[in-house]
Amino acid sequence: MKTLVIVAHPNLEQSKVNKTWMNRLQQEENVTVHNLYAHYQTFTIDVEKEQQLLLEHDRIVLQFPFYWYSSPALLKEWQDVVLTYGFAYGSKGNKLHGKEVILAISSGGPAEAYRAGGYNHYSMSELTRPFQATANLCGMHFLPSFLLQGMMSLTEDRLEESTEELAAYVTNPNLREGR
Ligand SMILES: Cc1cc2nc3c(=O)[nH]c(=O)nc-3n(C[C@H](O)[C@H](O)[C@H](O)COP(=O)(O)O)c2cc1C
Repeated sequence: MKTLVIVAHPNLEQSKVNKTWMNRLQQEENVTVHNLYAHYQTFTIDVEKEQQLLLEHDRIVLQFPFYWYSSPALLKEWQDVVLTYGFAYGSKGNKLHGKEVILAISSGGPAEAYRAGGYNHYSMSELTRPFQATANLCGMHFLPSFLLQGMMSLTEDRLEESTEELAAYVTNPNLREGR
């Protein structure tokens, strides 16, 4: 099982969560950490290279801070240009079939804000539906997202704990039911 972690954070120097997660995941064997903003500051994505990276891995983790109820812009651009017809979808676009996708998201708002009656009204499952629909169209298995929510009350201990949980989760070989 080879795992690709695509990190999309426009300002990792000032990041607390995503930087900690990224540094930890870099220590894992069979995990490739790919820092998207470090490679493509001008948003000119090397499509062939990105597709090759996808082909070489079985599980794709998209790691990002929640920005306006979605991902930072470069990850959207990455989807737009890398997931092409004939590669990711279409009658002959089967290159991603059977691969797994996991979202690893940090959000400023706490978990209780992301539900009916909470101040953000919608659940994370609802808000991340476009990622799930994209995975479905590409024939990928969309696995449960990994979330760390509520930056105001985040302690060092909780961050450390979540970092170890994330490392264990993305390297677990048997996440799919029946495997
Ligand atoms: C441009 C921008 C948009 C944001 N939008 C949201 C949002 O929609 N929901 C939310 O809960 N937090 C939002 N946040 C807060 C970030 O999700 C939070 O600061 C980040 O997850 C912390 O991770 P880090 O320490 O790796 O930067 C936003 C932050 C920025 C800068």
